[in-house]
Amino acid sequence: MRFTIVGAGAVGSLWAIKLHEAGHHVHFWTRESDTQIVRHAERSAPLVFSANNVDDMAESDCIIVCVKAFQVKDTLSAIKTSVHPDTPVVFMHNGMGSADIALSALPNNPILLATTSHGSLKVTPETIRHTGVGETRLGGINPTGYQCDFLADVFHHALAPCYWEHNIQHALWKKLAINCLINPITALEQIQNGALLEAKFEPVLDKLSEEVSNVMCEEGLPISRQAVLNNALAVASATAENYSSMNRDVFYHRHSEIDAITGYLLHRATLHGIAVPENERLYHAIKKLEQSYDHT
Ligand code: PAF
Repeated sequence: MRFTIVGAGAVGSLWAIKLHEAGHHVHFWTRESDTQIVRHAERSAPLVFSANNVDDMAESDCIIVCVKAFQVKDTLSAIKTSVHPDTPVVFMHNGMGSADIALSALPNNPILLATTSHGSLKVTPETIRHTGVGETRLGGINPTGYQCDFLADVFHHALAPCYWEHNIQHALWKKLAINCLINPITALEQIQNGALLEAKFEPVLDKLSEEVSNVMCEEGLPISRQAVLNNALAVASATAENYSSMNRDVFYHRHSEIDAITGYLLHRATLHGIAVPENERLYHAIKKLEQSYDHT
C-alpha cells in the first residue's frame, strides 16, 4: 500500500519504519524539505523517505495523521485539497477532541481514529528508539470509516498488535485515562515513566484514578478506580525507560497536549458536575509552565 504519514514525530517515525519494513511505500508530509530521514536506534542504516509531494499525497491508499491534537486543525487546512476523497485518513495522537474537526474538514473521506501505547522516543532529530511494546486500537467514526477494518490487519502486520474497535471512543477514553495519570506527573517531575511505580507517587495516582473513574462512569464507560490505576501502571512499567511525550514537551519548552488530555477530562467533568481537583491542579501546573516559556 501507499502510505502518507503526516508529522515526523516519534510516533509517525515509528510507523514509517514499521510500514516500510512490512513492504509498504511510505511518504511523509512535514513542515520541512522534500525528504525525511528516519533512523531506528537499533538499526545501522538510516531510511530516506520522500516528503511533501502533492502527487504522492493524492495517490495515497491511506493517510496517517500523527501530529498533536492542537495541530490537527491547521494541518488539515494545509493538506485537505491534496487528499483524495476516497482515501482513509487515520488520526493517531494522544487526547481527544479532533474527531469533529476531522469530520468537517474531510466530509467525504473515511475517517478513523487510532490510539497506541507503544513507547517511541526521539533520541536525535532523525533517530527514534522503540522504548516500549504496546498495542494499537483502530476504529472508524463515520460510515465509510467503519468499513475500513482491513486496516487493522495491515497495521497489525506492520506493528503488532493492532485491534479493530467497534467503539473507538471507548478505547480513546481508556488511553486518555492512562495519559491523565502518566503525562502531567512525568512532565512536572521530569522523570521517566517507570519512576511512577515508586511508592511516593501512590497518593497522587490514587486521587487521579478515582477522579478519572468517576468521569468515565458518568460518560457511560464504567471502570473502577483500581482498573484505571492498574492500566496506567502497566503502561508505565512497559515503557519504563520512556520519557512521556509531555515530559519531552516540557523539557524542550514546547506546547504540550495538556488541553486534549487533562483539559478534555476537566471539560467533561464540568459538564457532568464532577469535582476533579487533583487533575485540575496538574492541568494548571502544566499551563503555568507553558506560559513561562512565552516570557523567556
Ligand atoms: O504520551 C506518551 O508518552 C504515551 O502515550 C505513553 C503511552 C504515556 C508512553 O510514554
